[in-house]
Amino acid sequence: MNPLLSAGTCMTGSLIRLRALTFHDLPYTLSWRNDQRSLRWFKSQEPLQSEAHEAWFQRYVAADTRDCMFFAETHDGMPVGQTSVYNFEPGARRAEVGRFLSAPDLRGKGLFREAMLLTLDWSFENLDLDELHLEVFANNDRAIRLYRSAGFAESGASAGMLTMRLSRADYLRAGGSGGLGVIQ
Ligand SMILES: CC(C)(COP(=O)(O)OP(=O)(O)OC[C@H]1O[C@@H](n2cnc3c(N)ncnc32)[C@H](O)[C@@H]1OP(=O)(O)O)[C@@H](O)C(=O)NCCC(=O)NCCS
Repeated sequence: MNPLLSAGTCMTGSLIRLRALTFHDLPYTLSWRNDQRSLRWFKSQEPLQSEAHEAWFQRYVAADTRDCMFFAETHDGMPVGQTSVYNFEPGARRAEVGRFLSAPDLRGKGLFREAMLLTLDWSFENLDLDELHLEVFANNDRAIRLYRSAGFAESGASAGMLTMRLSRADYLRAGGSGGLGVIQ
């Protein structure tokens, strides 16, 4: 887990707040991941077991890594989704953003979009990056619309997957989440 993330790390938007993922959040992320409305968008469509999920989290917390896992909730504490920045490229100021997953019953309200924008803001501000990229199934229209709305542009396509990238300059030019009216 990235040492920059602490229990006190918190970004506040108009609808949600984003903080570091904790052990107590895992039942939510596990149930969202195993929901039929989510499973089809993962490369592995096998339901994840609780023991494996918890073991993955313990490894993440203990690892000497720059990876960051975030959890979003509404201001009254309703769980909204998870985001992540990971796969930092040594010698290049690039990393992957993703592991995006929202609470299936709260989709389509713009809550997760705030979580994503706050993740992009925090990553560009704190991690010394010039570019973020992601990978998405080419038929995941909902996710692709979301990424385009933040300024991501397609950078490649292969075997049913699209890659998209967002430069720091383009994100800042678009105003980041502040320009989109998210940060209070
Ligand atoms: C992809 C995913 C994370 C998107 O999350 P979401 O909860 O649908 O995100 P949002 O609600 O913020 O999406 C924005 C939608 O809300 C709508 N919306 C409604 N009110 C809004 C508001 N006040 N502000 C912004 N958008 C609003 C937008 O128009 C947009 O609609 P659209 O989906 O028809 O384009 C989610 O669908 C998911 O977890 N899918 C399964 C896993 C997955 O596919 N992950 C991505 C792998 S690459």
